Amino acid sequence: MPGPLRFDGKVVLVTGAGQGLGREYALLFAERGASVVVNDLGGSFKGEGQSTSAADKVVNEIKAKGGKAVANYDSVEFGEKLVETAIKAFGRIDIVINNAGILRDKSFARISDLDWDLIQKVHLRGSFSVTRAAWPYMKKNNFGRIIMTSSASGIYGNFGQANYSAAKLGLVGLSNTLSIEGNKYNIRCNAIAPSAGSRMTETVMPPELVAALKPEYVAPLVVYLCHEETEETGSLFEVGAGWISKLRWERTKGAVCRTSTSKMTPESVRDSWETISDFTDSTNPTTSRESTAHLIGVLSQLDESEKPAPTPTSSSRGI
Ligand code: NAI
Repeated sequence: MPGPLRFDGKVVLVTGAGQGLGREYALLFAERGASVVVNDLGGSFKGEGQSTSAADKVVNEIKAKGGKAVANYDSVEFGEKLVETAIKAFGRIDIVINNAGILRDKSFARISDLDWDLIQKVHLRGSFSVTRAAWPYMKKNNFGRIIMTSSASGIYGNFGQANYSAAKLGLVGLSNTLSIEGNKYNIRCNAIAPSAGSRMTETVMPPELVAALKPEYVAPLVVYLCHEETEETGSLFEVGAGWISKLRWERTKGAVCRTSTSKMTPESVRDSWETISDFTDSTNPTTSRESTAHLIGVLSQLDESEKPAPTPTSSSRGI
């Protein structure tokens, strides 16, 4: 049996770690020997105000248990400052958990510029800013583990969360590309769509569910994905209640809506709609190269059919 997963000597930065999921990640990493930067702006769930108490509380909790932690109170928009705290306190940065988040739920027509911009700033730009600041250290150390926090609202959409859904699925795209760019530096990046009772979800979930979906049923996945022996990268997981599931894209076989002799028209699309939408014999592409390769295949098939039929040879004439 392999031993427990330890993080001795590793430095982890958890954003939005003053409560909820982030707090749980920070506690579990510290328990496993990591030095933890507990970042939290300490504002409301709508992104208003700020305070040092949320981060301080978690740092004190970790220290009381004999762990190593330092607080940072900056907004994730200023990633350099968060990473600077890690470097000053512990001299390195190995793992970044992009977790900080807020909500500005409104039905689409009522979303103001501020509601839109603030959500993109905290979730998408914040994760970009923090990760970009940590990236050069990870490259230099030839080691890095990154988590992006997406959401079922991003994957499937959710009424009243157009701003949030856009940012959350954006984080999957960011994670996918970082997994490719980080590959040769042993930097692995994955995205999770968690479900847990928290200050954020108590605004939308019934109290029984908030109590039942404990953050401790999510944190072990995050910690596992960030271990040095875990090679998983570029993946997306739904996680909650102790259940974990991996997601992937599924593509129908599709239909080519033109031939060498007939143009592609709205009608040819309509007439192929059933085939376009039929998931029988579907595939699961994993790279954009695979996606393009299929198009090249379609072009060459059409080219082939455009070539004039071979002139019959004397032998084929059966003389
Ligand atoms: P939470 O509200 O309990 O914790 C979020 C923390 O982030 C708060 O302590 C807050 O002060 C901090 N924060 C907010 N803006 C910040 C900023 N600009 N800079 C630094 N810290 C900031 O929320 P919860 O539920 O723990 O959510 C954590 C992450 O998981 C979020 O990204 C959220 O969108 C995501 N998520 C959570 C789900 C759930 O079921 N709890 C569902 C899907 C996604």
